[in-house]
Amino acid sequence: MAQPTPQQAIDIQRQDWNRVAAGWEKWDRFFDGQMAFLNHRLVADARLRAGLRVLDLGSGTGYPALLAAQTVGTGGSVLGIDLAEHMLDAARRKASSLKLPNISFQTGDVTSLSVESATFDAVISRFCLMFLPEIPKSVAEIARVLKPGAWLSAAVWSAPEKNAYLTIPLAVVKQFIELPPPDPTAPGIFRLAKPGDLAKMLQDVGLDSIAEEEFLAEVHLPSGDEYYESLMDIAAPIQNVFARLSDQQKTEARRRIIDSVNHYRTGNDIALPIAVRIVAARKPR
Ligand SMILES: C[S@@+](CC[C@H](N)C(=O)[O-])C[C@H]1O[C@@H](n2cnc3c(N)ncnc32)[C@H](O)[C@@H]1O
Repeated sequence: MAQPTPQQAIDIQRQDWNRVAAGWEKWDRFFDGQMAFLNHRLVADARLRAGLRVLDLGSGTGYPALLAAQTVGTGGSVLGIDLAEHMLDAARRKASSLKLPNISFQTGDVTSLSVESATFDAVISRFCLMFLPEIPKSVAEIARVLKPGAWLSAAVWSAPEKNAYLTIPLAVVKQFIELPPPDPTAPGIFRLAKPGDLAKMLQDVGLDSIAEEEFLAEVHLPSGDEYYESLMDIAAPIQNVFARLSDQQKTEARRRIIDSVNHYRTGNDIALPIAVRIVAARKPR
């Protein structure tokens, strides 16, 4: 099958994430409880403090933009950009219930930012950059909009073999149908998993002080059912793979997924490994 053009890839991303926006809102409390530590890590790596002007790329339902807005306070501001307007609707509802006056959200494509050059004190991004069809172009945009001396901090998924949390359903689907090996250059969950890939792109656009770490953690769940329901409600790329099964295969796949997840159970706790690549870089002064 022919590769989609960059514009087609972006349209697919927009449709995919709009489709799962309601699921993100439904499971918001759970995922925020499990993954908030990543927001704190990104806020720290970007050296956020009171008064700064921050850009969050691929904000989705508001992470890590909301924590950034709390950190920079009313003397600072945060702009969150995302393709998917329904994800941003949820982010706006959260910002309003948190009474954050210093945050705004705009629909837009990270590949070509409609913001002026050298206007942000920091750029942050969680789980977005690997979905972009032209990552080097987006990285050049990040370098363009950062002020001299300002930091980028970004989180992307690391290697599939360390991310049982994400790969269990994919392994089960492969028991039913053949999945072509992922094109290493196509947008997708593990596109930036390789050590040094994102760091090299950042270096190529002139950023320095580059730091990269593979950050290991676990997502904790009370049951296999909750794992299945929550992941399938929010993970658009995994939904797309699952959609290729027949109804009968889906029922059996669900049973096998829950069975696999139970191998990670200790008492009432299921702990599923995740590995996140955290990369920070600075624009030279
Ligand atoms: C996995 S979600 C992450 C959302 C949020 N940052 C978080 O960590 O909860 C990925 C987000 O990236 C957005 N996205 C994907 N490609 C994009 C692009 N080219 N420009 C802007 N946003 C994009 C999607 O719409 C989606 O909301």
